[in-house]
Amino acid sequence: MDSDLWLECINCHTKFDAKKIIYTCEKCGHLLDVKYGNLEKAIDGDWKKRPISVWKYYPFLPKLKQVISLNEGKTNLYHCTNLSDKLGINNLWVKNEGENPTGSFKDRGMTVGVSVAKSLGSRVVACASTGNTSASLAAYASKAKMACVVFIPSGKIALGKLAQAMMYGAFVLAIKGNFDEALELVQESCERFHMYLLNSLNPYRLEGQKTIGYEIIDQLNWEVPDTIILPIGNAGNISAIYKGLLEWKEIGLIEKIPRMIGIQAEGAAPIAEAYKKREKTVTFVEKPETIATAIRIGKPVNWEKALRAIYGTKGLAETVSDREILEAQKMLARAEGIFVEPASASSIAGLRKLIDNGEIDRNERVVCVTTGHGLKDPDTAIKSCEEVTQVQADITDIEKTLNKILSETMKIYAV
Ligand code: F0G
Repeated sequence: MDSDLWLECINCHTKFDAKKIIYTCEKCGHLLDVKYGNLEKAIDGDWKKRPISVWKYYPFLPKLKQVISLNEGKTNLYHCTNLSDKLGINNLWVKNEGENPTGSFKDRGMTVGVSVAKSLGSRVVACASTGNTSASLAAYASKAKMACVVFIPSGKIALGKLAQAMMYGAFVLAIKGNFDEALELVQESCERFHMYLLNSLNPYRLEGQKTIGYEIIDQLNWEVPDTIILPIGNAGNISAIYKGLLEWKEIGLIEKIPRMIGIQAEGAAPIAEAYKKREKTVTFVEKPETIATAIRIGKPVNWEKALRAIYGTKGLAETVSDREILEAQKMLARAEGIFVEPASASSIAGLRKLIDNGEIDRNERVVCVTTGHGLKDPDTAIKSCEEVTQVQADITDIEKTLNKILSETMKIYAV
């Protein structure tokens, strides 16, 4: 790693060597940020002409001798005119992070995090996960020829994600507890058994994830949107995007930062509840519950950074119900042909609610980040859709059925 880089406590601002394996401040226990000494130099760099990808933005990332990559990033930014018509706004884009190599935004964090782990000489990487982090870490560990241990809440992760972690060859520990308990246990295990922790507590992971914001602005031809909406679970992603955009604003690459809006599921909403009372600290939820298992989190470790992102941009946080999440999932799929997992759909559900209650203006330029692919959780998708029609392998039966279906379809289009 280059010398002009260090870790810094977000609370007491103590600086630590970039190569030191720590995840929180040794002095006061608060979160750490990766800091760079020379970002101004990047303003006129040739990087701007490169095609988008996580590593396009290398001046804003740690410099490493070896990069472990699966070609992450460069996800599409869809201009969603059908959905915006339905919702009653004029400009809506969806940044579809499900298009990453393992199907979620976590890959952006892992290309940086696993590369750092490799450069520090770690042999074993570990994480606790509601599914996507484990799938992503397992894949990058394979590519890096490292061992991988993942702690998952037993019976509470979507099947596609479990299949991924198993297929990539991770050692999977199903903890008889929830994600928050798994995260505490993996932290302790990493210390005891010298494994490198790759949850979003690790500040290097967030460096990769901040490129979501960079790509959005790049794809909008450097016109900064007014608002970015995304789901909050452990609160790493909202913190990462904010940090990245703040760095760009500080060196004058952009003039403003969009307001950051975080959406949580009603049963797992410590940050949204804190925001609603305009509090500076968060009361944890002991027994979080939601159908969106990816964000079934009661003790988000990055809460302090997330509140800074929300308050620092005059943003907000909102809750949505499981029913609203499933409706939004279907709405996005059927209006735009984009299939996302339930946690991701919470950003669309949140948008809908905020338009309805007047928090979002119809002329606002809004980007919703959809964080994970719909195929991650086929069970929930199948349960929330209409049953398929069974027919005999016989043309007369098919004719009868189609006549009925098609006449109903014509009625729908005639309205
Ligand atoms: N959306 C999806 C699909 C996720 O998998 C996660 C988090 C989030 C949103 C929330 O992001 O934690 O940065 O606020 N998943 C983690 C995991 C916890 O283990 O895969 P966050």
